[in-house]
Amino acid sequence: MNARTSRVLHRSLRETPPKAVGGDGVWLIAEDGRRILDASGGAAVSCLGHQHPRVVEAISRQASRLAYAHTAFFSSEPAEALAELLVGHEPGGLAYAYFVSGGSEAVEAGIKLARQYFIESGQPRRQRFIARRQSYHGNTLGALSAGGNAWRREPYAPLLSPVFSHVTPAFAYHEQRASESETDFVARLAAELEAEFVRLGPDTVAAFIAEPVVGATAGCVPAPEGYFRAVREICDRHGALLILDEVMCGMGRTGTTHAWQQEGVAPDIQAIAKGLGGGYQPIGAMLASARIIDTLRRGSGAFQHGHTYLAHPIACAAALEVQRIISDEQLLDRVGDLGGLLERRLTERFGNHRHVGDIRGRGLFWAIELVADRATRKPFDPGLKLNQRIKADAFEAGLVCYPSGGTVDGRSGDHVLLAPPYIATPQDIDLIVDRLGFAVDSALRSINH
Ligand SMILES: Cc1ncc(COP(=O)(O)O)c(C=O)c1O
Repeated sequence: MNARTSRVLHRSLRETPPKAVGGDGVWLIAEDGRRILDASGGAAVSCLGHQHPRVVEAISRQASRLAYAHTAFFSSEPAEALAELLVGHEPGGLAYAYFVSGGSEAVEAGIKLARQYFIESGQPRRQRFIARRQSYHGNTLGALSAGGNAWRREPYAPLLSPVFSHVTPAFAYHEQRASESETDFVARLAAELEAEFVRLGPDTVAAFIAEPVVGATAGCVPAPEGYFRAVREICDRHGALLILDEVMCGMGRTGTTHAWQQEGVAPDIQAIAKGLGGGYQPIGAMLASARIIDTLRRGSGAFQHGHTYLAHPIACAAALEVQRIISDEQLLDRVGDLGGLLERRLTERFGNHRHVGDIRGRGLFWAIELVADRATRKPFDPGLKLNQRIKADAFEAGLVCYPSGGTVDGRSGDHVLLAPPYIATPQDIDLIVDRLGFAVDSALRSINH
């Protein structure tokens, strides 16, 4: 079927993608029978690979028992069990889970909860949010307002909320000056955030929102040592909340359940999605601290928000099984081991590549950044669409990876993100790097490099 005869509004209006008809662990199967290695779990979603029998069985069990009951009337067993598993031990003080259908909804809920918390704690002036340039928090209007990616924001700029302002991202490869140590860089970013609080009026700021490891827009960028501790201190001193968006980097992707566990801080509100349900069902969650929820409980008695599919029983049952498998099979240890292997293989293959400027990441969340010139870190002309060429050549070679453009400033720069399933084998990792190497070189040849 060509683009004109498909009635699905696809991402491209010029091309209809092939149909995926099956999955088998790390492999996706296309309608022509081709097996394609899923090296990015789509967009860092499929943490257990495809068609894990235990998850398929859990979904079918729940579907045959009860598919849906509205949360205005009922709770459900899988929602209660999933919340208990996620926040029963109150990690970092997070004690409640609000289940939604994806990452953008989780971020929207977090923003609204922060606002309502300050109304109910007698600080209604707190209505500003500080976020970072080059971040991505989702595509609904509130989440897009929080996001700092210029390209994604541009067409909708007139619709976006002016209460969000953006500071410099903790993106060492592009933002750290040659004259600066890591400590100097962190101090400069902290001073800028402090200045933004002061500019806005510290008692007007509700929250700072950031991805602990920046995902899609910049390509697996961990923060420099001490950055999040500095951020947490500034938020605390000014009485603002810290919202961490772990939609992409969370739920084990970086080797710990939460990426913030490696930063020595905990958030007041957190967004998770993708790896929560591993793609088996659409599900995300907002996690919130007891302090926030207790304030609402003593006040209005309800979070003034909601969706039809909150805490959907089948979605919760799928996520519950995904999380139980991660724990039963000790997959976070595996993420650490395989992550080390992926880093080594990427470094062997691309460490001396004249057009790979940076290899960065954590756990099973890695990216390479392509540059025209390694010495100056100059990106390729965005008109060449290098990242799209890599995507096409990789697909041709039987590899799904996640290349994007706009790495530097939302317009220029190219990177390729990898987020293999936690169940991958060392042989899968070798194959991923081989195929990616082939795709990168073939795409570069096509633009005469
Ligand atoms: C960090 C982050 N936040 C939010 C979102 C939005 O999630 P969703 O696409 O499920 O709405 C994404 C999606 O890529 C993301 O990476």
